[in-house]
Amino acid sequence: MQPQTAALMDKLVSLCKRRGFIYPSSEIYGGLNSCYDYGPLGVELKNNIKSCWWRAMTYHHDNIEGVDASILMHPRVWEASGHVEGFTDPLVDCRKCRQRFRADQVEGKRCPDCGGELTEPRLFNLMFKTFMGPVENQAAVVYLRPETAQGIFVNFLNVLTTSRQKVPFGIAQIGKAFRNEITPGNFIFRTREFEQMEMQFFVRPGEDSEWFERWREERFAWHQSIGIRAEKLRWHQHGKDELAHYAKAAFDIQYEFPFGWQEIEGIHNRTDFDLGRHQEYSGKRLTYFDEARKEHYLPYVVETSVGCDRTLLTVLVDAYHEEPAGDETRVVLRLSPRIAPIKAAILPLVRKDGLPELGQNIARDLMRSFRVFYDEVASVGKRYRRQVEIGTPYCITVDSQTLQDQTVTVRDRDSMTQERVATGALRGWLDVRVRYD
Ligand code: GAP
Repeated sequence: MQPQTAALMDKLVSLCKRRGFIYPSSEIYGGLNSCYDYGPLGVELKNNIKSCWWRAMTYHHDNIEGVDASILMHPRVWEASGHVEGFTDPLVDCRKCRQRFRADQVEGKRCPDCGGELTEPRLFNLMFKTFMGPVENQAAVVYLRPETAQGIFVNFLNVLTTSRQKVPFGIAQIGKAFRNEITPGNFIFRTREFEQMEMQFFVRPGEDSEWFERWREERFAWHQSIGIRAEKLRWHQHGKDELAHYAKAAFDIQYEFPFGWQEIEGIHNRTDFDLGRHQEYSGKRLTYFDEARKEHYLPYVVETSVGCDRTLLTVLVDAYHEEPAGDETRVVLRLSPRIAPIKAAILPLVRKDGLPELGQNIARDLMRSFRVFYDEVASVGKRYRRQVEIGTPYCITVDSQTLQDQTVTVRDRDSMTQERVATGALRGWLDVRVRYD
């Protein structure tokens, strides 16, 4: 059972803090608005999500290559991409309380907080600016990238020539992006520093619509492959007024959060906009020569773009369940075993008769392949509860029978069923259940 929607976010934020998934950034100084740090469990979960995406994109497709481009790029990149001119939100200020709002999110001319008069809207560029080198003048301005995609476009020729790929092929990247959002919020849903997982797929013009449909289907399935419930996902097609400046067509995958249906991933048909602009601004020819057809063309791009932090919030919201357990309520994070931060906990039933030593040996063996956790403190029931609350899918109990026949009990988090598994077979048993392939 999931708690009432309003309470769910509060409970989740508190669980994340209490169990070490996510902390407010610089907390000992009072925190920094909309910035968060991932703790020991959060970083595992995040790495697992990234790894599932990376495998799905690069390992599962022999025509997709990976890159890791720098965050700071030549400032002309952002002129070519259209971000200097057009990556803006309309901003209004309250003349009385000084609060700022996105103009498209307030109704009328009065401040939603204090009723004060609002200023006329003005355009606010969302890119973070900084200076390269010791002199802080206009010539030294560089931007923190607001999307990872441009690091891919500027490397199109490099990857094409070094990988010997042929169109159609893709380039995938995971990395940080920065946007000076006017209204960040809803925990890690909208922040000013976040990670994106983007893939640009280069195709022959005319074949873009077909590829667009293929990628839409594949990306929708990916979210389910990491455990997100299908009934909580839906499509939203961008109307003409919503389309980004580079897009011919765009669909969002949306998830039903406690605060409404929201975008988690965008699939965009970017046409040859970006390569065309970079060709124009850099003066470098970026066309592709199709040997079979003996023709030169600028490839079209189908982009899949998903936020890593936003996916992490989605899986947490989707997994959070409460169940009655006697007089108490048991919290269960029903995370897919593929992304759960801890794959198994090893629990000796009692702290005597050599069971702790046996348990530690099992943990030492498994930890070379999986993130596991050894725990001998408190009753076994309490130890189970601690694990299900953080989404650990399997608890391995070492008991007196283990001494006789070298088997352990493995308890499943969701069904609570138990089975005996030989200690020598544990590694393979776990592997098929937690591996993403
Ligand atoms: N390259 C295309 C692009 O960046 P976008 O729709 O602006 O498209 C793609 O962003 C994804 O990045 C979003 O679906 C979302 O998951 C994530 N994202 C965007 N802004 C974000 C923010 N301020 N905080 C967290 N995630 C964000």
